[in-house]
This record gives sequence, C-alpha cells and structure tokens, in this order.
Amino acid sequence: MHLKNLRLLNFKNYEDAYIEFTSKINCIVGDNGSGKTNMLDAIHYLSLTKSAINSIDMLNIRHESNFFTIKGTFNKLGRDHEVFCSLEKGKKKVFRQDNTEYEKMSEHIGQFPTVLISPGDNEIIREGNDIRRKYFDTILAQIDHQYLLNLIGYNHNLRQRNSLLKFFRDNLSADPDLIEPYNHILLDLGQKIHQKRKNFADRYFPVFIKKYAFIAEEKEKTSISYVSQFDEMDYEHTLKSALSYEIENQRTTFGIHKDKWEFMIDGRRLKKFGSQGQRKTFVIALKLAQYDIIKDEKGFAPVLLLDDIFDKLDDSRIHKLMEMVAADYFSQIFLTDARPERTNSILSSLSLESNIVAIKDGKITNKW
Ligand SMILES: Nc1ncnc2c1ncn2[C@@H]1O[C@H](COP(=O)(O)OP(=O)(O)OP(=O)(O)O)[C@@H](O)[C@H]1O
Ligand SMILES: [Mg+2]
Repeated sequence: MHLKNLRLLNFKNYEDAYIEFTSKINCIVGDNGSGKTNMLDAIHYLSLTKSAINSIDMLNIRHESNFFTIKGTFNKLGRDHEVFCSLEKGKKKVFRQDNTEYEKMSEHIGQFPTVLISPGDNEIIREGNDIRRKYFDTILAQIDHQYLLNLIGYNHNLRQRNSLLKFFRDNLSADPDLIEPYNHILLDLGQKIHQKRKNFADRYFPVFIKKYAFIAEEKEKTSISYVSQFDEMDYEHTLKSALSYEIENQRTTFGIHKDKWEFMIDGRRLKKFGSQGQRKTFVIALKLAQYDIIKDEKGFAPVLLLDDIFDKLDDSRIHKLMEMVAADYFSQIFLTDARPERTNSILSSLSLESNIVAIKDGKITNKW
C-alpha cells in the first residue's frame, strides 16, 4: 500500500500544501521546526483518525484558523482510495473514504495501516503500564476489528462500573445484584481480550527478538513478557470478594485493564538499565515487528513513517536498520531528517534512490 498524494489545509503549521509522493522512499528534509514531523503526523491522522502527538484534536488546527482538512489518496492492492478528514471548531469531526462518511471512527481503523517510529516512542519504555497496554492495543485494533469493539465495550463497562462503585460509597450502601451485570461483562469481554493478547504475544515476541538481534548484531539479549491477573487468579471469585475494597477505592482493581507488558534487557528491566541507544533499538525492533505482523495479517505492507530515526543510533545500527528497511520487502517509506546530507549519504551507500521533499516554514520548497 502507498500514499500517492497529500493535501493539507490549516493543519498545524501548514496553511495550504499539496505534495505527491513516490511509492518507495520519500525523504522529508528541512530545518528544525519546519514541519517534517507534522507531515508524518498528518499521514498518521489519515490512517488512525488521530494525531500521534496531540490527543486534543483542536491543537492540530493552525493557530488563528477555525478548521483543518487533510486529504490523501492511498493505493491499496492496485486501487485508489481517497481518505478525507476535516475538523472545524465546535463541530463533529468528519471522516470519509471515497466520499462516504463513517458513522464511527473505529470503522476506519486498520484499513490503511501505518507504522510510525518517532522520538516520542521513548514513552513506551519510560512511562507506566497504561502506555504499553495502549501501544499493543493499537496494534491489535489494526489487525482485529472485533478486538477493538470488545475493548471499546470493556472500557465503557469499566467506566459505568466505577461510577456505580462511587455511587455505593457515596450512599453508604452496596447491592451486589446491581453490580452483577457489570461483573459479567468484565469477565466475558476480559476473557476474550486476554486470550487475544496472549495469542498475539506468542506470535509477536519471536519476531521482535529477531529484529532486535539483527539491528544490534546480537550484542545484548532482550525479552518481553505479557503478565495478566487472568493467568494468576480465579478472576470471578476475586471480583466478588473484592467488592468492599473496590467500593472503598471507587475503582475496579482487577481485570485486563491491569495487564502488563514487561521489557527486559540482559535479564534486567530495560526502563532502569537500558542505555539510550539500546532503548531506541528496542523501540525500533518493537515497531518493525509490528510492521511484519500487520503486513502478514493484511496481505499488504503498511506505510512506514520514520521520524528522526537516526538520532542516538551508532553508525553500525543505522546501517543495519536501513539495510533491513530497504530490503525490497518494505513498500513505502517516509523518512525525516534535519540533516539531509546524512540521509543522503546513508541512502547512497546502500544504492537507494529517494524522492526528496524539502520544507521551509510549512511550505514545500523543493530546494535543499
Ligand atoms: N496548531 C498549530 N498551528 C501552527 N503552528 C503549529 C501548530 N502546531 C505546531 N505548530 C508549529 O509546527 C512547528 C513544528 O513542526 P514539526 O514538529 O513538524 O517540526 P520538524 O520539522 O519536525 O522539526 P524538528 O527537526 O525539530 O523535529 C513548530 O514551529 C510549531 O510551532
Ligand atoms: Mg520533528
């Protein structure tokens, strides 16, 4: 799959821009703050209906404007599809594929998959379990629509159950019969989600280990484990016996929303003991494994977005990475770099051709 063109109106620092891309390697170059990351973010938006950077949608509207639009033509399995998104202040977001509007944004997820590798990914390692859960959930949502629907249902039920716990506490009364239907959904959807996470982990981990070993030339050993209360306790029983404790805390303390994904390097926690370069390698291997799995599942390759990928990596890792990325097997790639000479020399040393998109202050200049 590849993105043929992109039209941006009032998206972040782009007032009005139109760009055509090649189906292979596109290098987006420009000074710091020129709009390279914003361009990748617009592509991410078309794929996942949201920004990778701003969770508050309004922040993506150009300052002093009151709307943005993003439009792009994807070619998937030989057919063109136009994806359109617009957001106007005070109105509902509009998302269309081939002029047909989606009723729910979730219907679009997974149709035009992208994999973004960016400096912001460091949070997957640095931050708490919720970020790692969200990361793996986003992959699963792209390859399994039913998983996404189950997760939406689970989270909705969780919010309602928590409100009920709060109600019990505020009113100093608890009715187990009232909470029972919520427990039932928690258990039913929880089990389904847990099983899918487990199957996914079994499939994903070996791919990840191989990617890491390739880039790092087997210098260090890494591992990931998926840990769930579902594997550790009788969930139904625990839920019943924990009711008074949960009312006290006004929160559901047991369930798949507490699952953990743990990252290790040479037998120790990566978060505490990994160097910056090792963490970056880890993140890249996570994303490349994600790429492989999505490709395998969909039967076509996602678009690969590489934002500032060379930063913090030594020359040998950069070369290994680019060698793998370029091995004919990846389809369309977007690369950003504030130092175009570096990208240029890496690409030419691997005899790779690329299309250069030069940007200055949110405008395409084609001069660099
Ligand atoms: N809503 C917005 N309206 C206008 N400008 C914005 C908006 N959001 C972000 N910007 C501007 O976009 C610019 C940042 O663009 P971007 O992050 O794409 O730069 P970059 O080319 O990736 O830079 P770097 O090389 O430092 O990574 C900043 O100048 C920022 O002020
Ligand atoms: Mg940037």
